[in-house]
Amino acid sequence: MRLALALPVIGTGAMAVAFALLKGGPPLTVEDDNKIKDLLKGYKARLLPSPERLAEVEAEFLTQMRDGLSKRVVVDGKRMMMLPTFVTRLPDGTETGECYALDLGGTNFRVMHVRLGPSKGEVTACDVEEVTLPKEIYTGPGDKLFDYLATTLKSFIDRHRGSAAAAATSAPPFQQLQPSQDQQPLPVLGFCFSFAVEQDGLASGKLLAWTKGFSCPGVVGNDPCALLSAALERVGRPCRVAALLNDTVGVLAAQRYLDSDTEIGVIIGTGTNACYVERLTALSKWEPPAGHAASGDGRTAINMEWGAFFSPQLPRCEEDLQVDAASPHPGKYLFEKLLSGMFLGEAARRILFTIATEVEGLFRVRAEDVQAVLADAREASIGNMAYATAAATIPKPLATPGSLSSATLSAIVHDRSWGLRKTRRLLVSELGMHQPSTRAAAVVKEICTLVAKRSAQLTAMAVLAILRHNGWAESSPPRPVTIAIDGGVYERFTAYRAMLSRAVSEQLGERSRTLFPLIKFVLSHDGSALGAAVLAAAAVTGR
Ligand code: GLC
Repeated sequence: MRLALALPVIGTGAMAVAFALLKGGPPLTVEDDNKIKDLLKGYKARLLPSPERLAEVEAEFLTQMRDGLSKRVVVDGKRMMMLPTFVTRLPDGTETGECYALDLGGTNFRVMHVRLGPSKGEVTACDVEEVTLPKEIYTGPGDKLFDYLATTLKSFIDRHRGSAAAAATSAPPFQQLQPSQDQQPLPVLGFCFSFAVEQDGLASGKLLAWTKGFSCPGVVGNDPCALLSAALERVGRPCRVAALLNDTVGVLAAQRYLDSDTEIGVIIGTGTNACYVERLTALSKWEPPAGHAASGDGRTAINMEWGAFFSPQLPRCEEDLQVDAASPHPGKYLFEKLLSGMFLGEAARRILFTIATEVEGLFRVRAEDVQAVLADAREASIGNMAYATAAATIPKPLATPGSLSSATLSAIVHDRSWGLRKTRRLLVSELGMHQPSTRAAAVVKEICTLVAKRSAQLTAMAVLAILRHNGWAESSPPRPVTIAIDGGVYERFTAYRAMLSRAVSEQLGERSRTLFPLIKFVLSHDGSALGAAVLAAAAVTGR
């Protein structure tokens, strides 16, 4: 009653809703329950493509691959670019030497020091440091980004050389490093720069487009290697940047160093992409460097930029269009927006928001939030029933972009606790729900699972398309093939790995029994940085 007296302008209908919600909300009616079932059925049909639909998508994927190999890049973010990498010889494990790597893939970047030993595939030392980029750096001026990278790299190298020199003074003389930094040769660096770059050499190229939330002006159209070298000069730590590569190429190279069956490198993390080894004869748009004639057995790694693939047949729902429209690069990299970690949580959140508007009271609101809404309404003197009802039935965080991270989505998919207790706890802490019911948690889990499954099914489609393009299944007998994968989604989301294997097996159809055992997915942890170091070592030793 006190509330009613304090809020003379709030209508009685809105008051009733507010009181019901403050008490924990009415139980769901049979009608609501049926509505939920219909909604879930509808999303399942829209998100998970039928085998026929998937076959159409795959056919378009293959057409775009062939087009991209024969025609010059069209940079509109709506087709794969099929970029030659100038890596014409992949590591075979015999590379040796000492290198640094800088790996800029997302909002975290890594610096690494690697020593490759004399035995095949031997890594005798490997130090890694991971640094988070502040938002103002990855969206601010390009020079500042490269200065930030160079400064971090400088202190890593200085620290590393310092401790190596200290260790060397107590080591036998043959291990001693030269005492003065000035007398040391320039550190060799592999630069893994995980964006679309049109290369004109192994260590040069130009950035075609930013993705993954990066938008630093002054970099698109320029050479990331030159920008990095200039920044390293500015901070007084010049390096020899011996190789510039995409993360997919790094992963492929790192795994190939260990396993010669490796033919494809895939990233499913903040962004997604793949590279594979292509015959130069199929790459008609490219003039290979001297000594690699486009005949006979010549091959090179191709950075596909598969995130930019688009087909109207892709399984998308209304909420995917919203995710795209609100993203940093709308209308571009639409395949990536269905697959990668940057978007999985947000797609699920938007779908759950729709469900919340359709089934009032499914996701209950915290009492203090209802009171805050009513207080706001009183202050604004709006006794608006629709406003109060909507605000009081949808938890505010659920209506807030970015509130459902892909890490939370993966925790929900993994939840096997009794009564989905873990999910219910996450719904309270992350999405601001009030005493979520088991039914509410089950709905959230189902949506999160559908969104993840769609990603896994499309990844499987794309990997199999590469293998089909290469004639793998038709070779007799088909050879074992290793697919190196890295990226947070694949690494930390174990259920995703199972979904991917299952999707590959299902999509192989009746040949699955013979072909599936030949396909090996291998997690290449830190592969992109390690691959950068290995390729840089190979470049300087001329291997
Ligand atoms: C984005 C980039 C691509 C990278 C991928 C994974 O799609 O454009 O180059 O490989 O993210 O990091």
